[in-house]
Amino acid sequence: MAVRKPKVVVTRKLPDPVETRMRELFDTELNIEDAPMSGAALAEAMGRADVLVPTITDRIDQKVIAAAGERLKLIANFGAGVDHIDVTAATERGLTVTNTPGVLTDDTADLTMGLIMAVSRRVVEGAEVIRDGGFHGWSPTWMLGRRIGGKRLGIIGMGRIGQALARRARAFGLSIHYHNRKPVPARIAEELEATYWESLDQMLARMDFISVNCPHTPATYHLLSARRLKLIRPHAILINTARGEIIDEGSLATMLQAGEIAGAGLDVFEHEPAVNPKLLKLPNVVLLPHMSSATIEGRVDMGEKVIVNIRTWMDGHKPPDRVIPSML
Ligand code: 8YV
Repeated sequence: MAVRKPKVVVTRKLPDPVETRMRELFDTELNIEDAPMSGAALAEAMGRADVLVPTITDRIDQKVIAAAGERLKLIANFGAGVDHIDVTAATERGLTVTNTPGVLTDDTADLTMGLIMAVSRRVVEGAEVIRDGGFHGWSPTWMLGRRIGGKRLGIIGMGRIGQALARRARAFGLSIHYHNRKPVPARIAEELEATYWESLDQMLARMDFISVNCPHTPATYHLLSARRLKLIRPHAILINTARGEIIDEGSLATMLQAGEIAGAGLDVFEHEPAVNPKLLKLPNVVLLPHMSSATIEGRVDMGEKVIVNIRTWMDGHKPPDRVIPSML
């Protein structure tokens, strides 16, 4: 007897191999045009789907979840971060929520390292000089940046991405410091020769580079508040490839403008896709459009994870990447 395929609604365009496989396995509705769904379109999709595959551009709050039909059972997020989904409300309604951890760790850590280098060695400024025809010959005192080796990197959030960054940073001669809810296992701390700071305030005041690598949760919203940003030393560089909401962006922009923090590399923004206009004018800032995990390989792997999560759920098992409120 043929088993009914679940109705899967995918809210954004995914890589072709992922979409093709999803069409083979499920009764899949794709978004070929890739237009972000309006709130109303999302609510409608949640009414006709067994499984919703959203991304960070879909706001799945308590209201949307409360209005979802009886049919919806699984929200299989395409992405690791789930701060756009009210996981507690979803769980209370009996919905399973899954994400795609692990497969974007290395790509994100690579680009975080890229931002550390880009800001401290003025890579974007240099590229712009060439493009604008401003290179008229070498000079011993021109385009001087700051050396990376021998400095201290403070990582906020020592999960998968934080640790992958630490491994890369060590190869560049940085010493590793971190703040986390709890220390990493001794074996990892020894491998990374990492120093644990229970007090974020104390760590911030001592670092040359600071990288934000924790998830955005109610507890980490504005973790780098105006007060904490003031603890950072004036020569330090701040990098964020996690979520914009973790930093008070307005205060950061004001401090960068005033030279109270030397530079920043930002891949994410507090009111994405809007960027604080002050940041756009600053030469000591490198801004990227939320692309730290954007590799073809990573996106295909994310799709594969989504498929595995849907399949295990279909087979009556617990999907491997379930997100439960107590994890947040
Ligand atoms: C993804 C991310 O590109 O996975 C995440 O949490 O922030 C990104 O790097 C995006 O979320 C895909 O939905």
